[in-house]
Amino acid sequence: MQLVTEDNITELAAGRWGTAHDERTREVLTAMVRHLHAFAREVRLTEDEWMAAIQWLTRSGQISDEKRMELILASDVVGLSMLVVQMNHRFDPGATPATVLGPFHIDGSPELDYAADMSQGLPGVPLFVSGTVRGLDGTPIGGAVLDVWQADEDGAYEAQLAVDEARLRAKYTARPDGTYCIRTIAPKGYSIPMDGPVGDLIKQTEISHYRPAHVHFLLNEPGFRPLITHLFEEGADYLDSDVVFGTKQELVVGYEHHEPGPTPDGRTSEVPWASATYDFVLQPQ
Ligand code: BEZ
Ligand code: FE
Repeated sequence: MQLVTEDNITELAAGRWGTAHDERTREVLTAMVRHLHAFAREVRLTEDEWMAAIQWLTRSGQISDEKRMELILASDVVGLSMLVVQMNHRFDPGATPATVLGPFHIDGSPELDYAADMSQGLPGVPLFVSGTVRGLDGTPIGGAVLDVWQADEDGAYEAQLAVDEARLRAKYTARPDGTYCIRTIAPKGYSIPMDGPVGDLIKQTEISHYRPAHVHFLLNEPGFRPLITHLFEEGADYLDSDVVFGTKQELVVGYEHHEPGPTPDGRTSEVPWASATYDFVLQPQ
């Protein structure tokens, strides 16, 4: 019989979880047990601290639903989400890099034509984003679908609002020569939700709780690795302090600012407007 001591408990627990039937499950769970024990030993975790952590996790579960995912947010703000993205999307340096999905993507966005407006009259500076979708060898990917979403001027995503219609999200199809054009409004930087357990922790630190202005893109083309990414505005606030570590130099694009006048959709803007160009380069499977 082997009784439990502070010295042998880690090996005993890892041994139990090492009986998992699936090899990968066994690897993940035994490593998790060892790292959790090492963490508790390193900080000499007290019972009060352990209980506070359990209550924090419980509150995070309780505040979550299909629209509010506090534990994903927790993973984002400690850099875990972005680390997992980096390790799993080691694309060629010539391909568009991936970044975090975030909690606000909604499936089934409406399909809009080339240069059609996904902002539908919402306040903001009109913004056209255009370019080409191509493979690493330069071949245009005609028919590629760009699933696009972003926050409004107040930093709110449709998923955070009680609205019935699609708001600031759409699917655009690249033309046969791979070119695409999106009309939207220039996004602004915004705060992540601070009214839950993640916010409670951040408020105890000097961490900036903002994300720099960005538009989200998802491209999933047969024969290519799926790409989930953002485009950030050059010079935007918080580019070097993104609370979810999602920024990458290759994803920062300059905006051109234009006086009122003709726009790429053949219409005329009565107000100043902006444009940006970006070529999405997909990594073959
Ligand atoms: C977002 O960009 O939509 C986002 C990403 C991570 C956490 C919160 C928001
Ligand atoms: Fe976002």
